[in-house]
Amino acid sequence: MTLWSGRFSSAMGRGLWDLSESFSFDHVLYPYDVLGSKAHVRGLVRAGLVSADEGTTLLGALDAVLAEFNEGAFVRSSSDEDVHMAIERRVIELAGDVGAKLHTARSRNDQVATTFRLFTLHAVADVVAATLELIDVLVAIGERHEPVYLPGYTHLQRAQPVRLSHHLNAHAWALLRDVDRLLDARDRMNVSPLGAGALAGTSLPIDPSYVADVLGFAAVFTNSLDAVSDRDFVAETLFDIALLGVHLSRMGEELVLWTTTEFNFASLGDDFTTGSSMLPQKKNSDVAELARAKSGRLVGNLTGLLVTLKGLPLSYNRDLQEDKEPLLDSYRHVTLVLAALTGAYGSITFNEEAMAAAADDPFMVAIDIAEELVSEGVPFRQAHEQVGKLVGEAVHTGRSFRDVVAEDSDLQRFAELFGPGVALGRRRSPGSSGPQSAAEQRRLLSVARARVDDRLAEGVEDSSEDLAGPFL
Ligand code: ARG
Repeated sequence: MTLWSGRFSSAMGRGLWDLSESFSFDHVLYPYDVLGSKAHVRGLVRAGLVSADEGTTLLGALDAVLAEFNEGAFVRSSSDEDVHMAIERRVIELAGDVGAKLHTARSRNDQVATTFRLFTLHAVADVVAATLELIDVLVAIGERHEPVYLPGYTHLQRAQPVRLSHHLNAHAWALLRDVDRLLDARDRMNVSPLGAGALAGTSLPIDPSYVADVLGFAAVFTNSLDAVSDRDFVAETLFDIALLGVHLSRMGEELVLWTTTEFNFASLGDDFTTGSSMLPQKKNSDVAELARAKSGRLVGNLTGLLVTLKGLPLSYNRDLQEDKEPLLDSYRHVTLVLAALTGAYGSITFNEEAMAAAADDPFMVAIDIAEELVSEGVPFRQAHEQVGKLVGEAVHTGRSFRDVVAEDSDLQRFAELFGPGVALGRRRSPGSSGPQSAAEQRRLLSVARARVDDRLAEGVEDSSEDLAGPFL
């Protein structure tokens, strides 16, 4: 018997039950559902809908159910459709008639919206923390490796030399934007839907802003229909995680490349690489490949939910139950990737000679010669043409570009530009890869990082404040 079986003459058919039950995956929401229920109880006492004694009994029963879940001792009944029904059913078992008052002035529709918001706020905080750890590792590795440099690429062709820290910080900046976006989403989702009822509120004298406050939400809903239908917070979080996953996949691809014999720029520690079941010599960067691969499911979870939401009429529809698994999955997998990549970068060693040798490729000095000519007053297009001719000559004759320049009557005066690291040292425009802009960039990065810490600190109130009473 379900808790809503009053108007039905038969139990749910097996096929419907299997399709409809969500306890198998939404049971992980139990701490947040209990939290929401405890706030609701306080609201019911305040509204005079249950007495203080009854409230104490209800809170005791909710705590007992929480403990059962925490200890792995909660026994699901065959009628428990979802985590909300399971908890309420057990509260009624423990508290009898008083338990039957728990769902007063509440629907599963505002309940699930509240529970899932609380869960998502927590998930966002976790993903932010794990992303910040990775950012800090990237920045620290760069700082430890000053003044190591490597080729920068466009089209995956060698383009201009860059400092390793500049390269790693490029990833750090992208990840900081991910954190910023997650915090934006957190601010927007920090609104309590509790008290919206099934869709239209209630005739009973509840105060939704009171329970919002008790739960630590920054605001309360203003439109009950919107409160129970809105899953923007899930979609936004899935997008933020998907884009974060895309950034992580790009980093994964780069690690795959860097650790090939062909590139030979880096190797990961033995604890972050795998062997081959057949080929004894293999050392594979599976961690980076999985980071690259997981973005597929993260993007899939986002598109899946968007398609589910598209065309849904107001207000709650059972379709909305399909919001859980995508978020649970994305949260779990992005967290796995973040931890694994943080470990992998922590284990990395760079082949500084190989990187420098590749970055001192004479062709990468071509732009420096052209820019020298520009400083002497030659229009850039003419300088480009003049240097390009010598590049062509080197390519066609198979000779070193450095030798071709050394023998050119006009350009041989720039021969010293080919010295190791000289080209890199010449980049001085703001935000560039040269050493002169490094200090300013480090400063800007730490300002951005500190700003995130400030946002975190001013974030969500801890909703786990003691909701046990006494009642005021
Ligand atoms: N398990 C449901 C969900 O996740 C709870 C809400 C059910 N409400 C309803 N009216 N059937 O959406």
